Amino acid sequence: MNPSPDWFGYLQALAKLGPPAHMATMIDHPTRDAGFGVYVHWPFCLAKCPYCDFNSHVRHAPVDQTRFIKAFRREIAHVAGLTPGRTVTSIFLGGGTPSLMDPATVGAVLDAVAGAWPSVPDVEVTLEANPTSVEAERFRGFRAAGVNRVSLGVQALNDADLRALGRMHSAEEALAAVAIARAAFERTSFDLIYARPGQTPGAWADELKAAIGRAAEHLSLYQLTVEPGTPFERLRAAGKLAVPDDDAARALYETTQEVCEAAGLPAYEISNHARPGAESRHNLLYWRYGEYAGIGPGAHGRLVTAAGRVATVTERGPESWLALVEGQGHGLVTEDLLSTGEEGDEFLLMGLRLKEGVDADRYAAFAGRSLDERRVQDLLGEGLIARRRGRRLAVTREGFPVLDAVVADLAA
Ligand SMILES: C[S@@+](CC[C@H](N)C(=O)[O-])C[C@H]1O[C@@H](n2cnc3c(N)ncnc32)[C@H](O)[C@@H]1O
Ligand code: SF4
Repeated sequence: MNPSPDWFGYLQALAKLGPPAHMATMIDHPTRDAGFGVYVHWPFCLAKCPYCDFNSHVRHAPVDQTRFIKAFRREIAHVAGLTPGRTVTSIFLGGGTPSLMDPATVGAVLDAVAGAWPSVPDVEVTLEANPTSVEAERFRGFRAAGVNRVSLGVQALNDADLRALGRMHSAEEALAAVAIARAAFERTSFDLIYARPGQTPGAWADELKAAIGRAAEHLSLYQLTVEPGTPFERLRAAGKLAVPDDDAARALYETTQEVCEAAGLPAYEISNHARPGAESRHNLLYWRYGEYAGIGPGAHGRLVTAAGRVATVTERGPESWLALVEGQGHGLVTEDLLSTGEEGDEFLLMGLRLKEGVDADRYAAFAGRSLDERRVQDLLGEGLIARRRGRRLAVTREGFPVLDAVVADLAA
């Protein structure tokens, strides 16, 4: 997954309009030790799920993967030119549905990354897969191409809810896909969506326990959000979709924490659970506010330049992205130098999602100012944040359901 436009939209609302380009002395930029990741976006799906607002498109004619390979190669080479001297710590092929890529396409992309930057010996290479596109042979091909971790979109383990979510697979097919993934890869994860219409804590606890029985080391558990512009939003507006209210969603969140903790899969991020040591390194890099290149249609990146951190976004439309890359060598349409205030806000927005929280000194290095001690004391007093080892501050279990408000308070 790539940090969604939503997070950045929210951030813009938070961000104060600070002074324009700041900073000259970014030599010891606090990003450096968090790693360097490469996100590659595959923007196609077999069908569009009615809740999803990711940059995903359905095409009825076959996608010209050879053309995409050439464009990925050119954009990777361009971004590598902006980021000399980096060593790649993780690669993430997200979507859309990257498991629809031919294994040869995945191999060509990974070869292009390897040609552009050196990698650490144990580089993590994740591919997102949809259970409708999982075949054992294909997965062996992804593995041979260099993928070493798979994240599967299971979403629910009962057929009625899968149909309500507009999914094209049954629970049995999803579990068969999980078994195929586990046979092919040492590291696997799967996603479930909860807070579905009519879901009770008891039913969710049972489903979650069944999921944990099949999960190896990592689970992403997302609360259903009704995104603007989606068919789910129109259904809700028409009174045809009733999602749990805040109290019901909170009860489901509590159930999630209790069941996962009891099973040895505690949350390390608001929606992500892992056995200790099995966390997604690529996602940790986003939340620890590391540096990452965003490649492919609609990908977001954060590049650290001599002038400061630059937020990049590529052209969103698959065909218009191809045309841009073929014309100018890359599809970047946004390259914004962030102000210190914006960097500090992003750092908080990302880092407070993590159970480990944020380092107050690192915040000060990004933001050019310390956290407001009075606000910190108030939030500590309310039990919404807690002090951790050293100078760290972390959101508590009570604070996570109101995370947005906590971030907004600290960033103000
Ligand atoms: C970009 S999708 C990639 C996975 C793959 N395309 C699939 O659906 O199987 C990443 C994940 O985001 C989650 N997701 C997408 N839209 C969501 C929404 N509106 N609310 C909660 N989770 C959502 C789903 O769990 C999904 O697996
Ligand atoms: S398959 Fe995944 S990316 Fe595609 S529309 Fe559905 S949830 Fe979104």
